[in-house]
Amino acid sequence: MPAERPSWAPQHIDLDKPNAARVYDYFLGGACNFEIDRQFAENFLTVMPEIELVARRNRAFLRRAVRFCVDQGIRQFLDIGSGIPTVGNVHQIAQQMAPECRVLYVDNEPVAVAHSELMLEHNPNAAVLQADLRDPATVLGSESARQLLDFDAPMALLMVAVLHFVPESAHPRSAIEQYLKALAPGSLFVVSHVSIDDWDGEQSRPGVPSYNQTTTPVYARTRQQVLELMAGTELVAPGLVWAQDWRADPSDDVDDKPKHSFILAGVGRKS
Ligand SMILES: C[S@@+](CC[C@H](N)C(=O)[O-])C[C@H]1O[C@@H](n2cnc3c(N)ncnc32)[C@H](O)[C@@H]1O
Repeated sequence: MPAERPSWAPQHIDLDKPNAARVYDYFLGGACNFEIDRQFAENFLTVMPEIELVARRNRAFLRRAVRFCVDQGIRQFLDIGSGIPTVGNVHQIAQQMAPECRVLYVDNEPVAVAHSELMLEHNPNAAVLQADLRDPATVLGSESARQLLDFDAPMALLMVAVLHFVPESAHPRSAIEQYLKALAPGSLFVVSHVSIDDWDGEQSRPGVPSYNQTTTPVYARTRQQVLELMAGTELVAPGLVWAQDWRADPSDDVDDKPKHSFILAGVGRKS
């Protein structure tokens, strides 16, 4: 029997396979997910119980990185792979510090886009575009980008927990080069990425292969491979580190097992 479609679910989405955006929403305690996502998430939790912590640490990195960008004078954000809105979205964090901040969200998942549209209905300084990271021409040439972003001024380009959904065969570096080329000097590139570096023979432990059952398989990269994706930018301190260790606030959930962040995080500056 086909899965039942809730009234808020956009047409033309595959309800018979889990999807990373909605599974991540479930791990963060959100309600924008379907039975198929919840089943996958619950099974995944048995393989990798720390996944909820991973999601929270990634989200905490995103919050700190956005604040860092605003502190550095950045007032515009291009957030690609922005996800389903949840607590502490980029425009909320940035506009709380500087109300004039402008944010363009980009995601290729219809549920994420539909919910972002609802949230941004009355926010003239933020918009969402349904597009694919792998298609920089569409993103950079979009009407939304033209209206919201000034490519002559520094901006923050965010690819937070998204690049591990893009395999080498889709040439992520080539897409990144096109985005970086479009940015003004002084722009910041915010990246977080699933990595199994340092897992010393425990490589099956984090359950990455489970995501092959979803519409969004995960491709973990080594630290060196993530650094290569960020080439052309100069990493700000502390460099590319486990998410919990990137400029943690005293109130952050930090422990002595940083690799359990499972996500490497860093910010690079274009000179
Ligand atoms: C794990 S969520 C991360 C959300 C948010 N950036 C965060 O870190 O909290 C990954 C998001 O990337 C999106 N995504 C995956 N592949 C994408 C692609 N090729 N183009 C655009 N978005 C993509 C998914 O739909 C999902 O919403």
